[in-house]
Amino acid sequence: MCLNWEEDYKKRLTTAKEAVQQIKSEDRVVVGLGVGEASCLVEAMAENYRAYQNVEVVQMLALGKTAYVNPGMEPHFYKNSLFVSGKTRKTIRDGHGDFTPCYFSRIPYLWEKDLPVDVALVQVSPPDAHGYCSLGVSVDYTKAAAEQAKMLIAQVNAHMPRTLGDSFIHVSQMDYIVEHNQALLSLPAPQIGDVEKAIGENCAYLVKDGDCLQLGIGAIPDAVLMFLNERKDLGIHTEMFSDGVVDLVHAGVVNNSKKNFNPGKMIATFLMGSQKLYDFVNDNPMVSMHPVSYTNNPYIAGQNDNLVSINSCVQIDLLGQVSSETVGMTQISAVGGQVDFVRAAAISRGGRSIIAMPSTAKGGQVSKIVPILDEGAVVTTNRYDVEYIVTEYGIANLRNRTNRERARMLIDIAHPDFREVLKVAFKERFHADY
Ligand code: COA
Repeated sequence: MCLNWEEDYKKRLTTAKEAVQQIKSEDRVVVGLGVGEASCLVEAMAENYRAYQNVEVVQMLALGKTAYVNPGMEPHFYKNSLFVSGKTRKTIRDGHGDFTPCYFSRIPYLWEKDLPVDVALVQVSPPDAHGYCSLGVSVDYTKAAAEQAKMLIAQVNAHMPRTLGDSFIHVSQMDYIVEHNQALLSLPAPQIGDVEKAIGENCAYLVKDGDCLQLGIGAIPDAVLMFLNERKDLGIHTEMFSDGVVDLVHAGVVNNSKKNFNPGKMIATFLMGSQKLYDFVNDNPMVSMHPVSYTNNPYIAGQNDNLVSINSCVQIDLLGQVSSETVGMTQISAVGGQVDFVRAAAISRGGRSIIAMPSTAKGGQVSKIVPILDEGAVVTTNRYDVEYIVTEYGIANLRNRTNRERARMLIDIAHPDFREVLKVAFKERFHADY
């Protein structure tokens, strides 16, 4: 490491246009996650498409412009998605890219052998007095990619919060530096209707004072937070968190005081929300960001006593098989950290895992509790791992229950419009009355 990092910094400064010219055809380019994406670099790469053939772009949760997946880009870019977002669903569905199933906790290990990184495009905060830049809101797999890439191109953004923890890379590790200030993407607050309110209240019933929370992605986990105002001394060890957690800190509900593992600290690997969240995490010693191989490793997260994981799903069958990432044949999402944390909660002393969902989808036209999963749907959380299922109609604890007990409990929390159909399916499957 060079002590005279300011000289290094100046020497490596360039423009986005020039930096992306270093990318070569057939390179594998890893892009940071979610609002951490170095969008000025990704956009410059897409604009320079004529210079490339078959550049593999690997990313989880694309939220930026993703022009590199536009029609006509196929000979230039190939998308390898580690999570399918609204931005990339069509690309994957239409076969213009592909999807690699991998537990989130294991993604940093992909870079070691199976998917070695040619170029990492990352976004960081400006360097501190010692030349260290924080990866801010996206430490996850991005830190390992930055450390292992043959070439590291960093966007330095004054708006990127300087988060603390194991979140820093040094200027000397960077090959090219592009200064570009832009506000981080701000995500809208979740819409809370009567259904979300009832689900939130049911989940809150399962959360006790002093618990340590993991919160998944989607509207439901965020909604649950709004119903925890009466709780005391909650802690956070999660994959991601959003504005709802900031409100609970300000309300004195989350203080991390009862955590037996990393006491006093909120542990996370990526962040998505509004400017309120980004201001809160900036230089805040209460927030400790770590690579996902740490936060989501079930044996590490499971060291937190009373760990409660709250995630959501697309569909569940009467045996308790949870599909969280496909609608029939179509990949719409991915496992993310769901199974990592379901297993961590099972390891944790006093832990509980919750999969919470509205009882119906498509404006009430389809039940999310079904006799058998849709043809082509994949099982994300299997029936050996599943524990609590929550809908607006109640709570079912499936752990260590027989097939018939599970099915009965699930029918009891299904939407009333679908219960009769489910009871008929119960009779056919189990040759017994409901
Ligand atoms: N049948 C048909 N379509 C369904 C459906 C069902 N049973 N359930 C959901 N859908 C559709 C919705 O209509 C919606 O379609 P649209 O985008 O065309 O409107 C889409 O699937 C997403 O559903 P929605 O309820 O809006 O999603 P959400 O934002 O609440 O997220 C998950 C729910 C399950 C997709 C999300 O929690 C997830 O990705 N989970 C897996 C990863 C995970 O848990 N990670 C945890 C750690 S971050």
